[in-house]
Amino acid sequence: MAKLAINGGKPVRPKSVKWPEWPIHAESDVKLLAKITRSNRWSYDGPVEWKFAKAFAGYHKSKYGLCCANGTVAIQLALEALDIGAHDEVIVPGMTWQATAAACVDVNAVPVLVDVEPDTWCLDVDKAEAAITRKTKAIIAVHLYGCMTDIAKVRRLCKKRGLYFIEDCAHQHGAFWNNKGVGTFGDVGCFSFQESKVLSSGEGGFNMCQDKTLFERIYSLRNCGRGWMDDMTHTVQSGNYRLTEWQAGMLLAGLSRLDKQVKNRDANAIYLNERLARIPGVLPLRRRKQITQASYYNFAFRIDWDRLGVTRLTNAHFAAAVAAELYAGFEPPYEPLNKCGLYKPHTKRRHKLDAAYWKQIDPKRFKLPVCTDAHDKSGVAIHHHVLMGTKKDVDQIAEAVAKVVEHIGELREDAPQALRKRYRALAV
Ligand SMILES: Cc1ncc(COP(=O)(O)O)c(C=O)c1O
Repeated sequence: MAKLAINGGKPVRPKSVKWPEWPIHAESDVKLLAKITRSNRWSYDGPVEWKFAKAFAGYHKSKYGLCCANGTVAIQLALEALDIGAHDEVIVPGMTWQATAAACVDVNAVPVLVDVEPDTWCLDVDKAEAAITRKTKAIIAVHLYGCMTDIAKVRRLCKKRGLYFIEDCAHQHGAFWNNKGVGTFGDVGCFSFQESKVLSSGEGGFNMCQDKTLFERIYSLRNCGRGWMDDMTHTVQSGNYRLTEWQAGMLLAGLSRLDKQVKNRDANAIYLNERLARIPGVLPLRRRKQITQASYYNFAFRIDWDRLGVTRLTNAHFAAAVAAELYAGFEPPYEPLNKCGLYKPHTKRRHKLDAAYWKQIDPKRFKLPVCTDAHDKSGVAIHHHVLMGTKKDVDQIAEAVAKVVEHIGELREDAPQALRKRYRALAV
């Protein structure tokens, strides 16, 4: 008789037991939005927006912070504010959402894709150093899957080579490195408030920085080029990248819950990693000792197939089997950017500055073996909502992973294809 739920066995967690939901709201959020509606103050620079911006920047211990339309735009504004443009090279980790690289091509810069560390999936700083040329202007580090880039090392490198440092913190609201919030270590820190993120207004973005001139420049760039607080004597060329007062209302409400949620997820993740570490063939990601609070947008771990002595299966099989045990959307991590279905700079004629540029922005010219292994073979990831519950929920995740390892011989090679659609629907 089949043991694994994917083959018809009894699941570790029945479908009827619901996981914590995401996104969530309180009735007081609805009241706040109604108040904003009645205030007739709906657009940018409203009182709620600035209340939120100051509070969120303050929470991360950042001097300055301001909202913008979304996380992609936050990166674009950071690049433009640092005067990065045509033909400049920007180092970007190969493992990230497409936006990190797409924002670079949208300012006519060249994203230079660099591989990640095998045990944190964050930028490999030594490889970043090897990729620096005289055209390199900045390094973007993406902190993801609860891990952080070696911030001290990137800062040293940027200082030594005269480069800007941009932090993509779309996954890390409420994460602290030596008790200081991420996004405050680079020249600019960029955040996303898209629905799935741990602080959300459906869509939205944020920039943090420590320099007043840079802050005012980002303000102008997000506000059609107007100078600070609508000063029309200091204007620049730009577009409209603002967000609304309602979005700011949702963010202010979400921020009042954020720290408690981050702490709960972090405690659950620490416990889960301890349990996963005891399962043969399962490798947790590495938590750097400087991380004083980790924030999880997605949680991930790795399968060591050599240790399991299995050659015919991949992480997609493993993820589908765990998904079936728990009725939750386990999946491989991000596609590497050199073969990402949503990072195709050559499909936009606007990017055709000249033949040399066209060649340089071809993602296929980069080799990303660690990213490829994580996506094709070893990595398994799950959205943060499964870490928002109790220790019992976490015990079930560990139990499901251990069960799949124990009965790995039962897993069929066609399993992920058959179940992909069903479990895809569960992925947030
Ligand atoms: C790492 C990373 N950077 C940037 C972004 C872009 O954010 P947005 O979707 O708000 O444009 C995302 C969004 O998923 C992300 O995951």
